[in-house]
Amino acid sequence: MKPIGEIVKQKPIIGWMLFLGTIVIVFLLGLLASSIIERRAEALFAYTPQVEHEQWEPRNEVWGKNFPRQYQSYMQTADTTFESKHNGAQKKDMLAEIPEMVILWAGYPFSKEYNQGRGHYWAIKDVQDILRTAAPMDDKSGPMPGTCWTCKSPDVPRLMEEKGIAEFYKSTWAELGDEVVNHIGCADCHDAKTMDLHITRPALVEAFQRQGRDITKATHQEMRSLVCAQCHVEYYFKGEGKYLTFPWDKGFTMEAMEEHYDEIQFADWTHSLSKTPMIKAQHPDYEIFMMGVHYDRGVSCADCHMPYKSEGGMKFTNHHIQSPLNNVANTCQVCHREETEKLVQNVYDRQDKVIENRTKLEKLLAKAHIEAKFAWDKGANDKQMEAALKHIRAAQWRWDYSAASHGASYHAPLETSRIIANGIEKAQEARLEITRVLASLGYSQEVPMPDISTKEKAQAYIGLDMKTLNKEKKNFLEQIIPEWLSRAKERESSYPVKNL
Ligand code: HEC
Ligand code: HEC
Ligand code: HEC
Ligand code: HEC
Repeated sequence: MKPIGEIVKQKPIIGWMLFLGTIVIVFLLGLLASSIIERRAEALFAYTPQVEHEQWEPRNEVWGKNFPRQYQSYMQTADTTFESKHNGAQKKDMLAEIPEMVILWAGYPFSKEYNQGRGHYWAIKDVQDILRTAAPMDDKSGPMPGTCWTCKSPDVPRLMEEKGIAEFYKSTWAELGDEVVNHIGCADCHDAKTMDLHITRPALVEAFQRQGRDITKATHQEMRSLVCAQCHVEYYFKGEGKYLTFPWDKGFTMEAMEEHYDEIQFADWTHSLSKTPMIKAQHPDYEIFMMGVHYDRGVSCADCHMPYKSEGGMKFTNHHIQSPLNNVANTCQVCHREETEKLVQNVYDRQDKVIENRTKLEKLLAKAHIEAKFAWDKGANDKQMEAALKHIRAAQWRWDYSAASHGASYHAPLETSRIIANGIEKAQEARLEITRVLASLGYSQEVPMPDISTKEKAQAYIGLDMKTLNKEKKNFLEQIIPEWLSRAKERESSYPVKNL
């Protein structure tokens, strides 16, 4: 090719064309720059603070005045319409879907009521409504400690600062009823001055410390998961003070946590049929997620559950935390090129396969509890039952660990399948032991099974008086809750908020 100077000398028109072309390009660049500056100005305008409030301010609507987009999208967690094959935003009655669960939790409040979780907007109402918190008609009664409120509200960091952490946990649930009224929100995850992500729950900070790590050194991408790990984790209430503790001292695997519980001989309750000292798994979402390929590749919870959103040319974080399957275009498809249908099918395939074996484990475990009760009734003693109960404890820990984390079968399908396979082996071992015990007591037939085909039948079998429980709850909801809410409104009306 000839040098440009020579071409222009031969055909001057090309020189003029180059000149004019350059002018047009410079003009367009100028337009672009001005539009960018305008957008910036708009963004700055949108973020001009309207109010000044304290870090501990628990009311989302107050924070929302400064950040209306984040606030409005967060309030969409109230929407309960989305339903996927196995999850979604609906409050589904899980005991009605799987009556075996009533047997597995006999003697524990979960056998009274257990629903599929829904959006953060519902956190307070759902814990007030559920039969598990019963019907405390005064401050001192009721089965639950203050610790139960820990993952429900930005009133929690406020109260911990006011009362002290240990005092907070030590309260009864009812004592704090008129104090904890705002659903999970801004103050749980954000610093009020900088809006940076920050950790407000001491249990997570303390778990890191015991592992010799400093959570303030976490990277920005790690924080996009750690804010969720304040609540979406396995935990237990330690000692008389019901001090909220994460069982991570030996590591993040199911076995490492089991070893911790076994070492301190921890039991959440004694099973009312099999008399096994049981562990209730909570919702080890973060821990199981850590075993999956997305965690391994540095993907965070927020990447799938809080994708970016554009509105009026502004990009912000969509705070409508929900199933990513309701928003595949902005979640999965940011990284994957496949069609929506295929990506959703990928999720369903993994869930279906995991749940196939989890259902088998559920049925085996329900049988094991009922057979153990039969052996006790036939006169078996502690020594004879010891091995069987050890296997039941281990089997149910594995089942619950995989079932209580609703995202597990997608977050880490291989790990979840492994845990369930382990559980099936333990449940079979337990049943084998019980057969041996029964044989030594002279019984060699099959153990007769009760009819537990519906939630109602299963609850009647374990001796729950649902009529009374529901009646007491109704009284509590009608008489106590309005009082709690009106006392809270009065208290909050004196909180310092400065209009700017
Ligand atoms: C302060 C505790 C807390 C924090 C922090 C928290 N969650 Fe939750 N989350 C909950 C509770 C409690 C529920 C169940 C609410 C209900 O069912 O009433 C829930 C429900 C959910 C659901 C189910 C919603 C649906 O529509 O099915 C998803 C998904 C979820 N959280 C994801 C996250 C993610 C992602 C983060 C971090 C960005 C996070 N959560 C941070 C406590 C928390
Ligand atoms: C469960 C934790 C959680 C809660 C609750 C929460 N946020 Fe966020 N917020 C996040 C995450 C994660 C990001 C993304 C931060 C990042 O990547 O820098 C974010 C980002 C933001 C940003 C930065 C700009 C943007 O859009 O990325 C603002 C402002 C904000 N949130 C406001 C709020 C307000 C207001 C509320 C209450 C209505 C709220 N947030 C509740 C986790 C939370
Ligand atoms: C790669 C994407 C991805 C990441 C990263 C991710 N999730 Fe999920 N999560 C999903 C999908 C997909 C589901 C299944 C949704 C369904 O079945 O409707 C799910 C389900 C859930 C559920 C149950 C939702 C329901 O409707 O009941 C919770 C809670 C949850 N995830 C929390 C988390 C937390 C906490 C983290 C980080 C520790 C995380 N997720 C990381 C994709 C992701
Ligand atoms: C932030 C990027 C990112 C997002 C968002 C994301 N993925 Fe992935 N996904 C990855 C990476 C990286 C891998 C690892 C594959 C590799 O390295 O080749 C992966 C792997 C997978 C795999 C194969 C691994 C397995 O579990 O068997 C599937 C299936 C998958 N993703 C589905 C999804 C779906 C469905 C969503 C939305 C709910 C999603 N991903 C969201 C980055 C992402």
